[in-house]
Amino acid sequence: MESDIQKILFTPQDIAAANQRLGQQLAQDYQGKNPLFVCLLKGAILFLTDLVRQIPDSVEIDFMDVSSYHGGTTSSGDVKIIKDLDVSVVGRDIVFVEDIIDTGNTLRALMDLFATRQANSIKIVSLVDKPAHRNQSVQADYVGLSCPDEFIVGYGMDYQERYRNLPYIGVLKPEVYL
Ligand code: PRP
Repeated sequence: MESDIQKILFTPQDIAAANQRLGQQLAQDYQGKNPLFVCLLKGAILFLTDLVRQIPDSVEIDFMDVSSYHGGTTSSGDVKIIKDLDVSVVGRDIVFVEDIIDTGNTLRALMDLFATRQANSIKIVSLVDKPAHRNQSVQADYVGLSCPDEFIVGYGMDYQERYRNLPYIGVLKPEVYL
């Protein structure tokens, strides 16, 4: 895997520092609220598990699987819900946990879907924000790291299901996917 990486953008230390900062902000903002953290599979799984361990108060977690990339390097814009939540969100304080916001298609579709579900509040935390190709008006409330216009993998993010287990976030060599 290492030989497919052109450069490391965020080291494990960068990621840990971002997680700590985000965890502290969320702990403060959601104190006593028992929020429901909705992890968007599969990319956000590593982020979720590190993030919730930064929060000393009670939080609940659930999972949704939504896909728009269908194995390529650009969003198809066609967002498919593969797995919905197990619990009701009525009256709950929801925090969507994303690894990356790119075009915004995924979160736009989710925000539209959740608009009718009667949650008390909905916020978004994204480890990485990549604004270069945003085509939807969607913005994270909490952002860990800002990323240039590169195709990145690692720490949950994949190319054709590989590289998710890299402990850092790196740029994939173009020859791997071109
Ligand atoms: C990735 C990522 C985000 C989404 C962001 O998911 O985890 O959910 O794309 O892109 P967008 O802002 O352009 O919609 P993907 O559909 O690749 O599924 P995965 O998390 O299982 O890899």
